[in-house]
Amino acid sequence: MSDDSTTAPPDDPEQSTAVVPETTRQIVIREVPQGQLEATHFALQEVPVPSLGEGELLVETLAITIGAGQRAGLQGSAGYAGPAEADVVMTGTGVGRVLVSNHDSIEAGAVVMGLTGWTEHAVLNGKRATVVDGAVAPATLLGALGTNGLTAYFGLLDVGQPQSGETVVVSAAGGSVGHIVGQIAKLRGATVVGVAGSDEKCASLIDDLGFDRAVNYKSDDFRAAFKAATPDRIDVYFDNTGGDILGSALFRMNAHGRIVCCGVVSQYDTSTPGPGPRGVPGLLVNNRVRMQGFLVFDYADRFAEARAEISNWLASGELIARTTEFDGLDAAPHAFVDLLAGRTVGTTVVNLAS
Ligand SMILES: NC(=O)c1ccc[n+]([C@@H]2O[C@H](COP(=O)([O-])OP(=O)(O)OC[C@H]3O[C@@H](n4cnc5c(N)ncnc54)[C@H](OP(=O)(O)O)[C@@H]3O)[C@@H](O)[C@H]2O)c1
Repeated sequence: MSDDSTTAPPDDPEQSTAVVPETTRQIVIREVPQGQLEATHFALQEVPVPSLGEGELLVETLAITIGAGQRAGLQGSAGYAGPAEADVVMTGTGVGRVLVSNHDSIEAGAVVMGLTGWTEHAVLNGKRATVVDGAVAPATLLGALGTNGLTAYFGLLDVGQPQSGETVVVSAAGGSVGHIVGQIAKLRGATVVGVAGSDEKCASLIDDLGFDRAVNYKSDDFRAAFKAATPDRIDVYFDNTGGDILGSALFRMNAHGRIVCCGVVSQYDTSTPGPGPRGVPGLLVNNRVRMQGFLVFDYADRFAEARAEISNWLASGELIARTTEFDGLDAAPHAFVDLLAGRTVGTTVVNLAS
């Protein structure tokens, strides 16, 4: 290994005694997917551990999370993610332990969350890393307390504004954002209907998470079942999917209802996304429905407030955080494919270190 700043000086109290390896493993985008995502779109490579600049941290990644929105990034349809390109490390949020710190207020040994990407060792700008409680499981930090938990919280409460007694419907309800949306809506006194892709997921939403009803969008009689599950129609529709489910929800909205446009997962895993739904803007006009998109990053100055409330719900058992966990960096591409195919529940997490 070169004699650079990644080697912790033994007499420097700011540095950990952890051994910094010479090389690290990371997953790069081998080819930008044109059709459906496959694990072969990624490749594993081993590279020297990079050296640190001013204010940077060298982090050993403990776990990463994979979200559906990352497929939108690879599709080039997520403006905030920039263009999709090959031969770069796959981006993503992770939790890691600081091995070496060149930052004034973050010490070696701290646990931080940030954009580690799919790599066993990451260099993070200390200004963009959040110090988190190392006693909390990485899967919880990345799930209910991570980007998707915050997305559920602000999307539902700030954009959807559910009132007690109203009907809230959420799509991709068994997923990372969706299962938290439904539970927060129940905490606000709403009647909650989930839409998910299997009977098993639907049963679990009701039996384990307290949803009032759930509908399998893959069933032949989906439209009729959806109508039967929303006898009082819909006041808040939290849309994670777009596509046919959004199309059905639009026709069931109550006057002054709110549609929270969170994401369009039904249109991500393809290079030919379908057109938007019928009835816009006519149905919105007639029913005075507000349809609003949002990005969770817009709420960054309120993340601490949301994490405090979500932590309380987790501690009291009022909120159950579900995760599907994979082991080892090599599993990440397969985890991503499984997520898009609906084979995961809750937040998808890949553990890199025990
Ligand atoms: N606006 C923001 O700031 C923001 C931030 C984070 C995430 N998001 C969005 O939130 C949504 C959920 O993301 P997530 O990370 O929590 O993913 P997720 O819900 O954990 O996983 C995606 C789920 O979508 C379902 N799905 C896949 N293809 C579908 C299709 N054709 N039609 C209907 N459902 C389908 C699958 O479950 P089934 O078994 O039900 O099919 C799958 O489990 C995404 O749209 C994402 O872009 C938005």
